[in-house]
Amino acid sequence: MELKTYTKNQLALRNGQDKPEIWVAFQGLIYDVTKSRLWKNGKHYEHWAGQDLTEELEDAPHSEKVFEKFEVVGKLT
Ligand code: HEM
Repeated sequence: MELKTYTKNQLALRNGQDKPEIWVAFQGLIYDVTKSRLWKNGKHYEHWAGQDLTEELEDAPHSEKVFEKFEVVGKLT
């Protein structure tokens, strides 16, 4: 099945403040982290959901493996 595409503005609404869903983009894919207690209200340490955080992962104490258990809900245009 084709992945749905979302714009930056649509992603920005899933920042944990404006809509119930909490989404994060990484390497072109959008992950739903709503269920994570580590992304409550869209905040994860000094990072905010609703954005492409590909470059920020370099500063994280973990690898991209953290995304494995989350569903891909679409791709970023
Ligand atoms: C200062 C930067 C960051 C810190 C201190 C941090 C810290 C952590 C810690 C301690 C965990 C849980 C343990 C682990 O899986 O290693 C975690 C999980 C996670 N992190 Fe980060 N992180 C940072 C940046 C980021 C960034 C930039 C992203 C996105 C690109 C990200 C995405 C995630 C995800 C998706 C999880 C899994 C959450 C879960 O399993 O519920 N982190 N992070």
